Amino acid sequence: MVYFRLHSILDPVPFGRIDLVVFRNVLIYMTEQLQERVLLAVHGALNVGGFLVLGKVEGLAGLARGLFDAVNIPERVYRKRGR
Ligand SMILES: C[S@@+](CC[C@H](N)C(=O)[O-])C[C@H]1O[C@@H](n2cnc3c(N)ncnc32)[C@H](O)[C@@H]1O
Repeated sequence: MVYFRLHSILDPVPFGRIDLVVFRNVLIYMTEQLQERVLLAVHGALNVGGFLVLGKVEGLAGLARGLFDAVNIPERVYRKRGR
């Protein structure tokens, strides 16, 4: 049930229905605009209720702020909002 694959997060996400994305200390190297683009792509690939984990100095950017619920703010754990 776990797939391993090399992937640049700047490319289109190659598959969907993902339950967990761990993105620790990766967004910090990007502009806010690029962070938003990457986070929207991740949002599209996650299942509703799927988890996103960022680094402790990171957060949601732009429109992505409205698409996730915070599960644990100090640990930067977010969950894709359902409809
Ligand atoms: C500071 S390290 C953090 C590594 C690890 N996540 C951690 O918290 O210890 C940043 C990581 O981002 C990865 N990275 C940078 N640009 C990337 C990209 N476009 N696609 C995928 N990974 C990328 C690097 O390969 C590196 O492993």
